[in-house]
Order: sequence, then structure tokens, then C-alpha cells
Amino acid sequence: MGKDSIYEKLKDKAAFTLSKGKLKSVLTSDNIDVVLNSIKQYKGKGFYDKIRLAQEYDELKDLCIRVQNHKPKVIAEIGTWNGGTFYVWTRINPQAKKIISIDLPDGDYGGGYDEKRIKFFSEFSSDRENTSLSFIRGDSKSDSTVEMLKAVLGKDTIDFLYIDGDHTYEGIKKDFENYVRLMSADGLVGFHDINTFKDGYGVHKYWNEIKGNYKYEEFIKPGSRVMGNGLIYLRED
Ligand SMILES: C[S@@+](CC[C@H](N)C(=O)[O-])C[C@H]1O[C@@H](n2cnc3c(N)ncnc32)[C@H](O)[C@@H]1O
Repeated sequence: MGKDSIYEKLKDKAAFTLSKGKLKSVLTSDNIDVVLNSIKQYKGKGFYDKIRLAQEYDELKDLCIRVQNHKPKVIAEIGTWNGGTFYVWTRINPQAKKIISIDLPDGDYGGGYDEKRIKFFSEFSSDRENTSLSFIRGDSKSDSTVEMLKAVLGKDTIDFLYIDGDHTYEGIKKDFENYVRLMSADGLVGFHDINTFKDGYGVHKYWNEIKGNYKYEEFIKPGSRVMGNGLIYLRED
């Protein structure tokens, strides 16, 4: 039986309905620990069985504390994969009015997400009337993606940008340079993998080149040689 058969469609519909209910039961608070732990507690069905997060708990928690204190209204994330950090930004920021995901289908460093998951990700803010979620599926570095983002932003600027997509030196550089122009003067920019030294990972090199130009913080698990979050404050004070 093909994946588009009536049977498969009904099975998927039932899995989505059940998963939606399970998700609702974990959307209890905007407390950072509660939100981070709810990712593991969530157990959905079928295609919507899990929310996956590619992060070290304390490194993400420390970043979340700064982001939550900043109260961003407009958030953009490059690199969503299975929704982990997108879920976190959505849940810890009840004041947010726009949260935008940019991800390249079949992209490197995770492979993106199937289009079918958009309706599931959209449920992350089902209890928040004032938050709208947008999903741009394309290469963050392409002009068409930037144009789509501008259309979603309208007159708004990005208050918090999280970069976790193309991890090459050239990719990170282009993302930062392209998107920083669309940010609020006091915006925050988060970078993942500032402490990953594997082949194909150039974030650490770019991060070390630019961090000194800004007020910045690094969240790295002691002794670790992988992952790590960096945060740039576009305004000093
Ligand atoms: C490491 S995953 C993101 C993980 C997620 N932020 C989290 O922590 O839960 C990287 C994602 O970036 C996407 N990606 C890779 N290159 C990209 C590009 N040029 N433009 C947009 N997304 C890209 C991949 O498709 C993948 O889904």
C-alpha cells in the first residue's frame, strides 16, 4: 500500500490528532527548565512521534535565559531540522509576535524536515493568539529566501536570530552578513557549534574572527570539544 493510500492518510490523520493532544499536555509553562524537559516528555505517534533537539542542555539553557530576558518580538532561526530549538524559542517567548524558521530540505547537518511536519510545528504556538509561525523552505544564502523573509517581516526587524544551518565558514559568514542587516539595533544573534572542530564545521573559525567586534558570551560545557552556543549583542549596553 503506497504512502498516499486512503488507509495511510487516515492513519496519519489519527497519529496527528493523537500527537496534537499529547503536545498540548506538555505546553504547560514558559519556564526554561519546564520547556526543555517537555521535549523529552512529549511522546507522539507516527510521523509526529518526537521533537528532536541537537543541543547540550546547559549550553542551551544559558542561551535561553538571555533570550527570554530580552523579550524578543520577532525571532528567526536558520536550521530547524526536527523542531527542537524552534519549539524552545516558541515556548519561552510568549510575547513573540513572529517566529520564522528557515531550513533547506535535505540540507547538510541534519537533512531538514518533511513538509508534512509544518502542521505539527504550527501547533507549538496553538495556545498563543498573538504569535504567528512561518516556515521558509530554502537555502538561507539564496536571494529568494532573503526576499521571502523580508516579505514575512514587513516593517519589522529581527530581535533574535539563531544561526544553526550551513556550518561551513563561508555559510556562517554569509548568513551573519545577510541577516544582520534585517535586525533591530539592539538585537541578539545566537550561533550554534562554536566549539565543534570536526571536518566541515567552520563556525568556530568565523566566531573567533568576529566575536571581538561585539559584546558577546559563550556557553560551552566545561571540557567539551563539541557544540557550544555563542551570543552576540549588537548593542553594547
Ligand atoms: C543541526 S540542524 C538544526 C538543529 C536545530 N537548530 C536544533 O538544535 O534542534 C541543521 C539544519 O540546517 C539545515 N540547513 C543546512 N544548510 C542550510 C542552508 N544553506 N539553508 C537553510 N538551512 C540549512 C539542515 O537542513 C538542517 O535541518
